[in-house]
Amino acid sequence: MHTDTGVFGRSHELSSRRHEQVVFCEDDRTGLKAIIAIHSTTLGPALGGTRFYPYARESEALQDALRLSWGMTYKAAAAGVTLGGGKAVIIGDPAVDKTPELLAAYARFVETLGGRYITAGDVGTNTDDLDIIGRHTGYVTGRSTAAGGSGDSARLTALGVFNAMRAGAESVWGTASLAKRTVGVEGVGKVGRELIDLLLADGAEVCVSDVNDAALQLVSQCHPSVRLLSSVATAPVDVYAPCAMGGTLTTTSADAIEATLICGAANNQLANPLVEQALTERGITWIPDFVANAGGLIQVAGELRSAAPAEVESDVAGIFPRCRNIITAARAEGIGTGAAANRFAERRLDAIPRSI
Ligand code: NAI
Repeated sequence: MHTDTGVFGRSHELSSRRHEQVVFCEDDRTGLKAIIAIHSTTLGPALGGTRFYPYARESEALQDALRLSWGMTYKAAAAGVTLGGGKAVIIGDPAVDKTPELLAAYARFVETLGGRYITAGDVGTNTDDLDIIGRHTGYVTGRSTAAGGSGDSARLTALGVFNAMRAGAESVWGTASLAKRTVGVEGVGKVGRELIDLLLADGAEVCVSDVNDAALQLVSQCHPSVRLLSSVATAPVDVYAPCAMGGTLTTTSADAIEATLICGAANNQLANPLVEQALTERGITWIPDFVANAGGLIQVAGELRSAAPAEVESDVAGIFPRCRNIITAARAEGIGTGAAANRFAERRLDAIPRSI
């Protein structure tokens, strides 16, 4: 039976906190088709990256924009920044469809929102693209340092993940250090590589996996001590650090994971909310992704207020006590760390009346 949810209908997951505004952007001249979703401006302008992706269906692009912008509201609220949640998707293959003209047309749509939405990088967009976008709108972050931005966010994202992992280590082993622990890093891209540096400096043993051989070789060249595995998710490690794609924590993988602690940069690590329960039952501590990977968001929040780099690093270090509080609250209330993190974010959101 077909159920018409109308234009305002949302899946159950997204229905509790509704989106303020969803904008469909089309430009015939450049072929631009984009959706900008503003989930919440309660805490400040809605910030979130622009994802450039070849969605098979427009409905998938809309669902992604709605889901990701909703997640940004929680990420910003938990990170303590004065920003709301937004996200944009451009429908198309970045390798084929991305042109300066199309990005300029997209930027002009961002500009029409008058600062209610501020964009940043995401899958399929990079600092070069943001530099182009920045020529047509002021509501952009994450541009290159040459263009006046704060540059790539991988280093501070990794620093945030490292701090989150230290908080997890403290709760599991009583010491806020990864020294002598084996950490399996899945995905050695921009964030994974930075994380390896921090882990090795802390005295951890590191093993890694990646689907890209060139990425693995790069790690081997820099760090011959790092072991290369075909998969780290279910390997005999103390910590599993998903730093590639989301959705790797499934009910099946939860049963096979040998790590005691899971903490990584990938967004939306849980394939579904039930997985957290399975992890908790097995005594595995999971650090919620949106708390651990907020370093990049904290960086662009600092960029917006022209904060000094040292101040931004200190804000990123704040991920450590935040994770510690979330783990403590989860244990005290007998709930998962994900639920505790959501409550933490919701308390901040609920303290302020909706601005629209
Ligand atoms: P990236 O694209 O530079 O690196 C991802 C790496 O994962 C690549 O080397 C790729 O080959 C590898 N990979 C893909 N599928 C894999 C699989 N099935 N198994 C193992 N490796 C696989 O991305 P980046 O910037 O390092 O981000 C990593 C994750 O962190 C992504 O999920 C991203 O959304 C998330 N994230 C990144 C932030 C940033 O500041 N870059 C901020 C917050 C989240």
